[in-house]
Amino acid sequence: MQILGLSGSLRKDSLNTAALRACIGLLPAGDSMSIFDLSPIPLYNEDVRAQGLPAPVEQLREQIRAADALVIATPEYNYSFPGVLKNAIDWASRPPEQPFDGKPIALIGATPGGMGTSRAQYQLRQVFIYLNGRVLNRPEVFISGAQHKFDAEGRLTDTATVESLGKMLAALGEATRGRH
Ligand SMILES: Cc1cc2nc3c(=O)[nH]c(=O)nc-3n(C[C@H](O)[C@H](O)[C@H](O)COP(=O)(O)O)c2cc1C
Repeated sequence: MQILGLSGSLRKDSLNTAALRACIGLLPAGDSMSIFDLSPIPLYNEDVRAQGLPAPVEQLREQIRAADALVIATPEYNYSFPGVLKNAIDWASRPPEQPFDGKPIALIGATPGGMGTSRAQYQLRQVFIYLNGRVLNRPEVFISGAQHKFDAEGRLTDTATVESLGKMLAALGEATRGRH
């Protein structure tokens, strides 16, 4: 299984990007995962699209299409998911052949707060209803108090979170191989 990771945070020390990196270390042998940097994706503009998709958008669409599954790590901003993520999804979703159709997707999220990005994840889930992404129902991965769960280098140190990310990756593998 080849997984593409998307982080809704662009900052270097992002807890969400760190959670994606932790996933890479938990993959079963034979599976692989890369993280797409959303920084070069411009703000959505239909006039720009009419002249052809910008190169970073083409790359994003191709990498989503090529991946067997996606893991999306979302921060929670004002009880929702960040514009960075919505903007990237909006670009990638434009016809022809939007690449989320039928794609197995796992949502995760990390926050210093107590609600674990649950509100952001439920809104993100709603977006994939329209796009027909196959978002895993469980396990849900809500990483709350996340500033205490990663060390200064961004390595995941919390064993319960390691376990829940491992279960998520196993469920994503099963969904991707058509067993669910
Ligand atoms: C504009 C903004 C709004 C935020 N709103 C929320 C929120 O609604 N819920 C929450 O748990 N954290 C909120 N936070 C705190 C983020 O969870 C925190 O900055 C987190 O570290 C962002 O993810 P990152 O580490 O991957 O960049 C907000 C942060 C920003 C910048």
